[in-house]
Amino acid sequence: MNTTMLPAMLAALALLAAPVHAADVAAGKALSEESCIDCHGDDGAGDDDYPAIAGLSVEKFTKAMQEYQNGTRTKSTKMTKEAKKVSAAQVADLAAYYATLK
Ligand code: HEC
Repeated sequence: MNTTMLPAMLAALALLAAPVHAADVAAGKALSEESCIDCHGDDGAGDDDYPAIAGLSVEKFTKAMQEYQNGTRTKSTKMTKEAKKVSAAQVADLAAYYATLK
């Protein structure tokens, strides 16, 4: 085997071992600006009509989104509609982003 190939092969292995989707805070922020901020505010702080979502733990955030998506949480048809627009990978990005806010 040509040993100059070794670093490239190790890098390829490391990629394979990585999780399927590493949450991307920047992508979450960009996505939040497309819709979430319309209701939850620029910084996710919420207001009288919409709950604050800034600073929610990744677990709580993800659980809430999954409950809207799978129909076990039905308090808000608006939020159910929003949740159904995003994929599981996007929920992970959004959760990572909102967890960085206070
Ligand atoms: C049209 C207005 C609207 C938009 C847009 C919207 N939401 Fe919501 N969201 C709501 C409302 C209303 C609730 C409260 C519903 C309830 O009590 O279950 C809520 C609740 C939530 C909760 C649960 C909070 C908690 O403490 O349990 C999360 C998480 C959330 N939204 C995330 C998002 C994300 C992420 C986006 C963008 C993809 C988004 N929302 C866009 C209206 C909206």
